[in-house]
Amino acid sequence: MATINKRLFLTGASGLLGRAIYKKFVNEGWTVYGTAYSRVAAGLHKLDLTDDSEVKKAIVQFKPSFLIHCAAQRFPDKVDLDPEGAAKLNIDTTRCLAQVAGSIQVPLLYISTDYVFDGKSPPYAVDAVPSPLNLYGKTKLDGEKVTLDVGKGNLVLRVPVLYGPVEYLAESAVTVLLNSLLQTDKQCKISDCELRRPSHVDDIADICLQMAVKRLEDENICGIFHWCGKEVFTKYGMLVQMAHTFHLPYDSHVTPDSSTPSATTTPRPYDTTLDTSRLEQLGIGHHTPFSVGIKSALQSWVR
Ligand SMILES: NC(=O)c1ccc[n+]([C@@H]2O[C@H](COP(=O)([O-])OP(=O)(O)OC[C@H]3O[C@@H](n4cnc5c(N)ncnc54)[C@H](OP(=O)(O)O)[C@@H]3O)[C@@H](O)[C@H]2O)c1
Repeated sequence: MATINKRLFLTGASGLLGRAIYKKFVNEGWTVYGTAYSRVAAGLHKLDLTDDSEVKKAIVQFKPSFLIHCAAQRFPDKVDLDPEGAAKLNIDTTRCLAQVAGSIQVPLLYISTDYVFDGKSPPYAVDAVPSPLNLYGKTKLDGEKVTLDVGKGNLVLRVPVLYGPVEYLAESAVTVLLNSLLQTDKQCKISDCELRRPSHVDDIADICLQMAVKRLEDENICGIFHWCGKEVFTKYGMLVQMAHTFHLPYDSHVTPDSSTPSATTTPRPYDTTLDTSRLEQLGIGHHTPFSVGIKSALQSWVR
């Protein structure tokens, strides 16, 4: 087997998933050029991804063998508040990255989302027809299209709701639930409606590494891939699991809410379970049990 050139250009390296990918690749001996914008931690490079010429300069100078595009506006409510800004980052930046990657003949892995589906007929195969319910899902789907239109050898990885070590609890739609659990003097309702299969960011980082290595060994490894966790929860179900993990009380102040979300909130799909068989057939996959992953992610937040 030929030795692969281990040079990764990673966007969004300061984000929830990007931090895990950065760490994983560095630990595996890759040289990683990780970009950040407002949170430029040690080792990362500040880069405004909406500035095409700066993006091109940084990539061409670094000479990567592989690109992973993690940066995005991924909060559906924020996308609704600034559709133009979100389209710029989620679509136009993706097009620019795909063009630069194509010009130096390097594959691009675009991180996408289960929100490209409407959640009405799971499980979703990689060739299922997407039908996003909200603008976030639409911009991510357009990002997928430009990734694959510009470079046929590029890859798209759709992932579910993510959790892992956070800089603030609301950084993940999973870890934010700990706030409700800890505020025992405040009555709250938590959704017991939509179904989710959360993945730990370290699982996705490992899968990205496995995909990068396979792609660099075999150019036929391209197109759309799916991964999601193997356990299914509502938000309330995740909160109950957290309560059990940390021996915290919940039933006197948290009530499950099985009603469907109101028409005034950004619509979210009901069940976006992704069919992961394409990756599994390649021998690629990683699932951390939720009880284990949530314990390690939140341990430092619970006294
Ligand atoms: N989180 C989830 O539950 C989830 C679920 C499904 C799919 N995804 C997808 O997974 C990917 C990673 O998500 P994430 O949760 O890690 O996102 P995140 O934590 O919100 O991180 C976003 C990243 O984008 C960077 N960024 C934002 N605007 C930028 C700009 N103008 N120029 C350069 N960088 C900019 C941020 O940099 P600074 O922070 O330094 O400003 C940050 O590194 C996204 O593509 C998302 O759509 C996420």
